[in-house]
Amino acid sequence: MTQNIKGFSKLSKEEKINWITETYFSNPLEAKQIVTQYWNSSENLQKLHDEFIENTLTNFYLPYGVAPNFEINGKSYTIPMAIEESSVVAAASKAAKFWGERGGFKATVISTEKIGQVHFLFNGDFEKLHTFFNQIKSKFFADTEAFTKNMQKRGGGILDIQLKDKTAQLSNYYQLHATFNTKDSMGANFINTCLEQFAKTLENEAQEYSGFTETEKNIQVIMSILSNYVPNCIVRAEVSCSISQMSEDPSIDSKEFAEKFVNAVKIAEIEPYRAVTHNKGIMNGIDAVVLATGNDFRAIEAGVHAYASKSGQYSSLSHAKIENDIFTFWIEVPLALGTIGGLTTLHPLVKFSLEMLGNPSAEELMKIVAVTGLAQNFAAVRSLTTTGIQQGHMKMHINNILNQHQATKEEKAQVLDYFKNTTISHSLVVDYLESLRK
Ligand code: MEV
Repeated sequence: MTQNIKGFSKLSKEEKINWITETYFSNPLEAKQIVTQYWNSSENLQKLHDEFIENTLTNFYLPYGVAPNFEINGKSYTIPMAIEESSVVAAASKAAKFWGERGGFKATVISTEKIGQVHFLFNGDFEKLHTFFNQIKSKFFADTEAFTKNMQKRGGGILDIQLKDKTAQLSNYYQLHATFNTKDSMGANFINTCLEQFAKTLENEAQEYSGFTETEKNIQVIMSILSNYVPNCIVRAEVSCSISQMSEDPSIDSKEFAEKFVNAVKIAEIEPYRAVTHNKGIMNGIDAVVLATGNDFRAIEAGVHAYASKSGQYSSLSHAKIENDIFTFWIEVPLALGTIGGLTTLHPLVKFSLEMLGNPSAEELMKIVAVTGLAQNFAAVRSLTTTGIQQGHMKMHINNILNQHQATKEEKAQVLDYFKNTTISHSLVVDYLESLRK
């Protein structure tokens, strides 16, 4: 039996579900029920979600939690987080409380520049191309005025356009390398629209340029697209306190813990295997807020990891030091975020997140997101260098295991009590639950 289908996108949602469940499932009725139970009872809300993408069958839920008590630059925030991983929100909340009692988080936006490129081939003399580029440079700005007018009113726009010679790496390959300020929008549509116009202007003007030979006139644009690598759109978040305040646990010496923590971060700075996991912990916080505020987490992920490799070796995004008995822990990350446009006006929960955060500017959101990443990293490295990660992780995960095995309320209470002070693992929890049921 063939499993290909023609005209799938033209089918109604019900027809699509029927085809999928009848083609791939041994029990189509049950499969259909799984999919349809996630439909929203509000037809309008369901329609809104259906239309975000193509071929929507249903909704895919992620828990939406909040981490309260974040003190950032003297202001208090409750931070929304959309994430499925147990213990992430709890860890963020604990770190927020810890640092709230030690002066809170300080965050600064260092730069806000976005980048886009027109990649093209030019078969000819570079000096001529350079002269041509300088002659028509103002035309790039003039031809995009219709799109840039509004952005300029908000204080943004095209910052600069440069011609780059990349022929040492690929024959005939040049770029228009443009920089933008997109203020409170992430700016992908604005940048791509400008770039596609630059490409047209480039091709058209080349055709008209009397200084070019016939071959040189035929500039071939390969593509025009923003870059998700934004090393000049950087935010820094930081915490610090006296090393004597570092431990909350009387059995853990503060100075020893501070030193161990700094060494754990240094290991992530020099050892890529550890750096990837260390940064993954940071992204647990960053992605959760990025998602909850309707931003593009794939763009953020791609940009952040490229930045972590900027020295040529993948390294930690966060850093720590002790100087004059003061422990300082900080992060610098590239975050191209938006608080207007895109999903921010379309998705009711995104609007909810932004209002809960006090309708921040993009720069304020950059600070909030970087702080959440730093808080998450602090919580993870603190656990790793003290109790080990499994204690907190499994404590949260225990509920998932119990739900998976349909534990009753009484069984849950008994299991949680039993594992309060002993090692937790999936099989130990299941074994104990089974022993209760005997
Ligand atoms: C788990 O999601 C994240 C950690 O592995 C991060 C880390 O190791 O630093 C705990």
